[in-house]
Formats: sequence, C-alpha cells, structure tokens
Amino acid sequence: MSSESRVALITGAASGMGLALAKDLLAKGWRVALLDVSPAGASITAELGASATYFYCDVSSWESQAAAFSGTFEKWGRIDFTALNAGIDDKDDLFGPTGDENGQPVKPGLKTVAVDLIAVFYGIRLAMHYFRKHEGRGGKIVITSSDAGLYPLIGVPQYTACKHGLVGLTRSMAPLLKKENITINAVLPAFVPTGLAPPGLVKAWPKENVTPMSTVIKCFNMFIDDDELNGQTGECSQETVYMRKQAEYANESQRWGREEGGKVWALVYPG
Ligand SMILES: NC(=O)c1ccc[n+]([C@@H]2O[C@H](COP(=O)([O-])OP(=O)(O)OC[C@H]3O[C@@H](n4cnc5c(N)ncnc54)[C@H](O)[C@@H]3O)[C@@H](O)[C@H]2O)c1
Repeated sequence: MSSESRVALITGAASGMGLALAKDLLAKGWRVALLDVSPAGASITAELGASATYFYCDVSSWESQAAAFSGTFEKWGRIDFTALNAGIDDKDDLFGPTGDENGQPVKPGLKTVAVDLIAVFYGIRLAMHYFRKHEGRGGKIVITSSDAGLYPLIGVPQYTACKHGLVGLTRSMAPLLKKENITINAVLPAFVPTGLAPPGLVKAWPKENVTPMSTVIKCFNMFIDDDELNGQTGECSQETVYMRKQAEYANESQRWGREEGGKVWALVYPG
C-alpha cells in the first residue's frame, strides 16, 4: 500500500450504501475511515483489512464528528474525499398527538433534522477544514440526498425536508467551493434495499422498481473521478444516473435575478 494512496472518510459506513462505497474504494487502493454510530461498526471494519479504520461517531454531535475527522487526519495525514452519507427516517410522528396530559403542546422531536441535515453542515465545515491543509489540492464532497430530495415522500416530512435541503445546499455551495478546488455533489438514490428500509417493505417492493446498489456506487464514482462535475444532483434509478437540473425559471425576471443580480450585489456590497 502506497503511503500516498488517497483517503476517504464516509459517515454512516457500517451498513448499506456507506459500507458498499467503503468496500468499493478499498478495492481500488484507497484508505477509508468508516464513521458510524452503530456498535457493529468496529467489527465490520476489522474485516475490511488494514486500509480501513473505524471511528465511533454520532454525526449529529459536532464534537463527535470533529473527533472522527481529526482522528482520520492524524492517522493518515490527508483526507481527499468525504461522503456525508449517514441518514435516518422520521423518528417523531408529526401527525400524532400534539398535546401532553395537561393539554400543553409538546415540542416536536427533530432528531431526523439533526442527523440528515444539520450534521451535513458539520461535515462540510470539517471537510473544508482538512482539505485546506492540502495547499490547493482541494478535495471532494459527496452528500447522500435521496429521490425524496426531488419528490416528496408523503408522511415523512422531516426526511423529505432534509433531503430537499441537501439538494439546495449542494447547488448553492458548489460555485464558491470550486474556487478552492473543492467539488460538492449529491447522490439521490431511489429505493435501494438497505438497513434503512423495513424488511417487510423490501420483501413487498416490486423487483422492477428496486434500484441496485451498483447504480449508487456508479454515481459516487462519477463524482470522485470527474473534476468537472460540481453542484450536480445525480438521481439514481434502476440502472441509470440522471443528472437533474434545477427547476426552470418562471420568467426572465427570475433568470436575471439569479444569473445577473450578482452584479447589483457587488455594487451595493463591494468586497
Ligand atoms: N435505502 C434507500 O432506499 C435510500 C434511498 C435514498 C436515500 N437513502 C439515503 O442513503 C443514506 C444511507 O442509508 P442506507 O440506505 O445505506 O441505510 P442504512 O441504514 O443501511 O445505513 C445508514 C447508516 O447510517 C448510520 N447512522 C444513523 N444515524 C447515525 C448517526 N447519528 N451518526 C452516524 N451514523 C449514523 C446507521 O447506523 C447505518 O449504519 C441515508 O442518508 C439515506 O437517507 C437511502
């Protein structure tokens, strides 16, 4: 193993897409840090060989995620690629009871937002911090959104809102990150049988509407291999990756606002 082999850090790596991506990169000679909150993470990683290392990490905790990034950098001296992939579905039923036994409204539990959205902001900050140590070499970030980032998943509002948010986050950060050689893109998988999907659902889902893991891994690799792909959202359905564009402008005024309004901003707020 070359000491110069590239280093990947993957969140939510003890299962499903994160684990499949870790195995794919290890097979290509990368060194991979697998981060997960699952107690199974350590033993799963131990089976992957010396190029894999595990960090217990709850991505929704800044301290926990920062410690895992720091540990990875200390171990291997570089981080080239970060997959911000950990995700959970809705844990609090927003349609359920709204009041407690005293008739007072109950604060909703927003753990899903903490894991699926806020934690990604933490991951981006940390990835940028360590990429900046590369003196211009930059790095790559891929976020795992979902087809629920394009089409609502009825009844799962926190998950849907977060996955939509990740699409906006990707598109809005990409142009400025590119200036420091960092690309940011998102994979948007359709239904892939993983730990996230309840076993009953996996059994019942029609096979022709299942997206194979290979399509998701293909999309990750497109973003890793092609420096020109930036701010892209790759919808993964069946065997195909569709690079989805932002919504069409409603009218010329809206196009102007986004594409040329920046000149006005620069005049009003120079520097
Ligand atoms: N499976 C699908 O059909 C599907 C479709 C679209 C998007 N996704 C997204 O793909 C990503 C990966 O999910 P998956 O399908 O591989 O599911 P999975 O459950 O198999 O894997 C998710 C991993 O994330 C870990 N995780 C959960 N909370 C965490 C936390 N707070 N900190 C660190 N790790 C945590 C879990 O322990 C698990 O190992 C998620 O973001 C999910 O929303 C999945």
